[in-house]
Amino acid sequence: VQSSGGNVTGKFGHPFGYGFLHEDINNSGDGGIYAELIQNRAFQYSKEFPVSTAHYFPVNGAKLSIQNGTAPLSKALPASMRVSVTNCTGKAGFKNEGYWGMDVRRHKYTGSFWVKGAYNGSFTASLESNLTSDVFGSIEVPSKAVANEWTEHTFELVPEKDAPNSNNTFSITFDPKGAASGALDFNLISLFPPTFKDRKNGLRMDLAQALYDMNPHFLRFPGGNMLEGLTNDTHWDWKNSLGPLKDRPGFQGVWGYQQTNGLGLMEYLEWAEDMGLQIVLAVWAGLALDGNVTSKADLQPFIDDALNEIEFVSGPANSTWGAVRAKLGHPEPFELNYVEVGNEDWLAGYPGGWESYKEYRFPMFFEAISAAYPHIQVIASAASSDPAPAGATTGPNTVDGLDFPEGVIGDYHPYREPDDLVEEFNRFDNDIGHIIGEVAATHVNGGIRWNGSLYPYPWWIGAVGEAVSLIGYERNSDRIPGTFYAPVMKNQNRFQWPITLLQYSADANFTTKAVTWYCWSLFAHHPISNTLPTSSNSSYGPLYWGAGEDDARNGSLVWKGAVYNTTNAEDVPVSVHFQGVMPGTKASLTLLTNSVGDPYMYNDPFTGINIVDTTVTQLAAGSNGAFEFSMPQLSVAVLDTDPA
Ligand code: AHR
Repeated sequence: VQSSGGNVTGKFGHPFGYGFLHEDINNSGDGGIYAELIQNRAFQYSKEFPVSTAHYFPVNGAKLSIQNGTAPLSKALPASMRVSVTNCTGKAGFKNEGYWGMDVRRHKYTGSFWVKGAYNGSFTASLESNLTSDVFGSIEVPSKAVANEWTEHTFELVPEKDAPNSNNTFSITFDPKGAASGALDFNLISLFPPTFKDRKNGLRMDLAQALYDMNPHFLRFPGGNMLEGLTNDTHWDWKNSLGPLKDRPGFQGVWGYQQTNGLGLMEYLEWAEDMGLQIVLAVWAGLALDGNVTSKADLQPFIDDALNEIEFVSGPANSTWGAVRAKLGHPEPFELNYVEVGNEDWLAGYPGGWESYKEYRFPMFFEAISAAYPHIQVIASAASSDPAPAGATTGPNTVDGLDFPEGVIGDYHPYREPDDLVEEFNRFDNDIGHIIGEVAATHVNGGIRWNGSLYPYPWWIGAVGEAVSLIGYERNSDRIPGTFYAPVMKNQNRFQWPITLLQYSADANFTTKAVTWYCWSLFAHHPISNTLPTSSNSSYGPLYWGAGEDDARNGSLVWKGAVYNTTNAEDVPVSVHFQGVMPGTKASLTLLTNSVGDPYMYNDPFTGINIVDTTVTQLAAGSNGAFEFSMPQLSVAVLDTDPA
C-alpha cells in the first residue's frame, strides 16, 4: 500500500504546521486569553448589547449609574459610570466581579482608571474576597481628579497573600468628604496580572503557556464567524482595534457578548510573534452572518481596506500603514505569507452569498492581493468539496463549487464524528491544496449530528479519529501547509461551543488540557520537512500511518500512527522499517493511550484528572532493521529516530 509520499513539505518554507483558529467565542478572548481582569471595563456597547453597569456592585451605599454622551472620555468610549456617594459615610465606591471571579496571587497587578470630577484625597484600590472580609492586597492611589476633565490614574498592586480561591473582586473606593459634587465619573477601569512574555495589554499566562507548550506553528485570526460580523456595517474592523485602549470602541461580538477589542490586531500579531507562529490573516470579504452581501459596485473600498490591513501587518515602516504600525511600537514588518478571503462563504442560508463569492467577491480580492503581494498564498474560504451535498461528509463535489484559480488553496472545516474523520483519511490524496482551517471531532458516532448537542469535551475516541485525519493531512503536506484546531478555548462560565483544546475559569488551577491537546502536541513536537513514500503488507485500518524525515533535525526519520478500532480490542502488532536503517539504530516511541479504558472519557476540568497515558520507550532496530512494537485498540504513536 502506497501513501501519497515522497512530497516536499518545504514548498511552503516550513514543516507541516499544527495551529489554532482563534476568534472570540466562549469568552476565549475577553475573559480568556486576553489577560484583562475587569469585565465591562469601559461600558462599551452596541445595538445588540446595550450599555450597563453589569459586573459592578456598589460598595458602602454608593449608587452606580451610566452617563452617556456628556463629555465622554473619548469618541470611542461615549459611556461611563457615575458613582454617587452623597449619603455615604466612610469610603465608598464600587467593586467588579471580573470574568466570574479573579485569580489573586502574590504577584504584581498593573492597574489604571480614568476619573472625571474634583476629588481631594486618595483612592483605595483593593483585591478582596467575595466570600469573607479578607483583603489580599490594597494600595492608596493619590487623586489627580479635577472637575470637568478626565484624568488617568495608574498603580501597581502586589497582594500580601494568595487567595484560596478565585471568588474575589476588585474595588475602588474614595472618601465622600473629598468629592465636592457628591459623585465621580469612572471609565476604562483596568487591571492586569503578569502576562505572557511580559507584554503590556498582553495574554493570560497559563492559557498562553498551554498553547505554546503544544509547539504550534500557525495562528489563524480573527475568525471564523467573528470576522464576518452580525451585519455588514458591524463586521470586525481591524482599524477599531488599534492604539490606546481609550480609542477602541469595542466590537458587537457574534457569539452573544460585546467585545472590548482589547485583543486587537497588534495583540494578535504580538501573540504570533511571541510564540513564533506563522499568521493566516483573514480579511473581511463583503459578507456578514445575516447574509447581507456587498454588491460588486460597492466592494472596492473593502478590497482597499484589506490591502491596507496587509500593509499594516507586513509593509515597511515608511509605507502609509506600516508607519502606523511603527508608531505603535513595531517598526519591523511582521512576516505574512497567508491571507484568507472571508470565512465559510459557501455556507447555506446566505442568499446570494456563495454566488457572489464565486462571481466577483473572491476573484476581485484575489486579483488585488496577488498583484500587490505575489508571494502571499491566497486562501479561499471554501474547500473543493463545498458546498457538500446534503448529508455528505466526504469527497469533492465541485458542481456548485468555486472555480479555484491557479495557485489558490481552499479551506476545509471538518467538524465531524470520529468515524467520518477516519473515513476521510484519503480525502486529500488527489486534490488541490487546502488548509484545514478548522477541525475537531465534535459529535459521537451514530448521533444526530448538528441536530443534537456537541459532546461536552473532546473525548478519547474523538481524539484518535482526529489523529487519523491529521496523519491524512500531513502525508499530503506538499499541498496542505497546516491544520488548525477550532475553537481553541472555553471559559467554563459562559460558552456555546464545548469542544475545545483548553477549558478554564478565572482560577488558574482549573485550566485543563483536553485529551486531543495531547495528540496534537505529540504530532506537533515531531515535525517533518518532507514525507516519505511508504509500503506495507497490510492496508490502512485499523492502523493508519504516515512517515517523513526532518532536515532541520539531521534527517531524523519519523513515523506517525493511530489505531482506530471501535470493535476489536486486540492490540495491533506494528513493524516499521525505514529504508537504509541499520540494525541497532535507536528510536523513541511515544505512545498515547486512554488510562481509564472508556473511549467516551474526557479530561474533566472539575476532577483535574488527565486520562491520557503517555509512555516513551527507547527502541532499537532489530536484525532486519525494523522497529517492532504493538499498539492498543484506540491509540496514537510517534516513532522518531531523533534522540532528542
Ligand atoms: O469554530 C466555530 C465556528 O465554526 C466558526 O466561527 C465558523 O467558521 C465555523 O462554522
